[in-house]
Amino acid sequence: MNCATRLVELFGSQAEVARRFRLDRAVVNHWIKSGYVPARWAMEVEQVTGGQIAAVDVLNEATARKPLKLKSRPDGDNDFANASGSDFMDKYAPSKRINSFHPPQRTLMGPGPTEIHPRVLTTMSQPAIGYLDPIFVEMMEELKALLRYTYQTKNPLTFPVSGPGSVGMEYCFVNMVAPGDKVIVCRNGVFGGRMIENVERAGGIPVVVEHEWGEPVDPQKLEDALKKNPDVRVVAFVHAETSTGVLSDAKTLVEIAHKHDALTIVDTVTSLGGSPVLVDEWKIDAAYSASQKCLSCTPGLSPVTFSERVVDYVKARKDKIHSWFMDMNLLLGYWGETTRTYHHTAPTNSLFALHEALLLIREEGLENAWARVNRHHTALKAGLEAMGLKFLVKEPYQIPQMNAVRCPEGINEAEVRKTLLNEFGLEIGAGLGPLAGKIWRFGLMGYSCRPDNVMLCLSALGSVMEDMGYPVHVGDAEGAAHAAYASMHATAAQAKKRKPAKAA
Ligand SMILES: Cc1ncc(COP(=O)(O)O)c(C=O)c1O
Repeated sequence: MNCATRLVELFGSQAEVARRFRLDRAVVNHWIKSGYVPARWAMEVEQVTGGQIAAVDVLNEATARKPLKLKSRPDGDNDFANASGSDFMDKYAPSKRINSFHPPQRTLMGPGPTEIHPRVLTTMSQPAIGYLDPIFVEMMEELKALLRYTYQTKNPLTFPVSGPGSVGMEYCFVNMVAPGDKVIVCRNGVFGGRMIENVERAGGIPVVVEHEWGEPVDPQKLEDALKKNPDVRVVAFVHAETSTGVLSDAKTLVEIAHKHDALTIVDTVTSLGGSPVLVDEWKIDAAYSASQKCLSCTPGLSPVTFSERVVDYVKARKDKIHSWFMDMNLLLGYWGETTRTYHHTAPTNSLFALHEALLLIREEGLENAWARVNRHHTALKAGLEAMGLKFLVKEPYQIPQMNAVRCPEGINEAEVRKTLLNEFGLEIGAGLGPLAGKIWRFGLMGYSCRPDNVMLCLSALGSVMEDMGYPVHVGDAEGAAHAAYASMHATAAQAKKRKPAKAA
């Protein structure tokens, strides 16, 4: 009998082992499944069992099952040696044995990527088909329609660019900024900084409207900058700044830009699918997003949408757009309304996945998805605040799906994240740029935005901080989250009662 099973026999159940070691039950279950207790628990096992299981037994067993120190195998153990029978080619073969990759199951509560719904994963593993196959082309039309729903727009040019969010960002700047164009970028975090890089690389002249990190974009500052620079052609800003967790008032900012006759580029990477993004109502000219955040799909696709005004503007450009791959006029031939000609090999299976992910949003309903994010944000926030943690951003501007809190004084924040990952399989985000080492970021995006994740996160974080000597009571955090859920359920039940019954 191995040490993991001996522990369960000794304490009666996996749940009781988890309680004694202050671990999540999933961790103990993993020990049982893998047939050993990891070496780093050896001393604690001896202590908790009062010597009934010796540390040395745990160590011997763990070392036999998982020889940590072994960096490479001797030739005799190399399963690939001479596999092809050609010494000439084998000199380029990896010297180390490589097995199929099986990632562990993680709970993803960082700034993205998120967990992926099983339906999306299944769809992604369907057989490959050609990107001009009539069945695929039919799916592309549905995909565009589902994206229009998610963006709340009738823009015909709404489609996923092949590439992550940064490619969607670059796509907007490359097409909409000609050399010499003046562009206002409102910077209040990392991604505003990336926009400035894009303006410069497109040959434009950036006018930067600076903000404190953690503050929303100030409409008055934008208005002042536009008055000072009446020749500005484009205004760009990040709707939901992932690096700080702050949401800006996109509708007002777009209104101001239009008053001064400038086009707008809006980054909706973290907002799309998690908070309202109303492209037509707010009259946004160009927006881009990313598949791996609130859309909860595999990374590598960037949904974009462009108004007719932008399409006409790009078509009328006299200069050659500086990127072949990103030239909107060329890509229209593949994603446009009428023609379907080869532009590049589309990532077909990822596009199947995005279709399914958007279908899930359509089935849930956008407003219900936003409400779900708000509900779990309220509970998570109640729990984090009960542990004494403070949000970086003031309440009215907090992005519910991106919760940034200040790390407590004196705590080793990197160690906390490492322990959460190693012992609870839970990923949370670190601070970026000037906020590195100062904040943690808890994502509640897409399929990761679930009550079980909220509760796991609070209990795991609480127990890790408590272990490190920080004075928190895990029970208080869990209690506060439960109370928040209970109060929201009660309010929802009251509201349901008050609703007049529909006429038969
Ligand atoms: C607001 C924002 N913009 C742009 C990006 C870049 O997206 P990607 O990492 O998919 O290239 C990110 C990524 O986190 C983001 O949060």
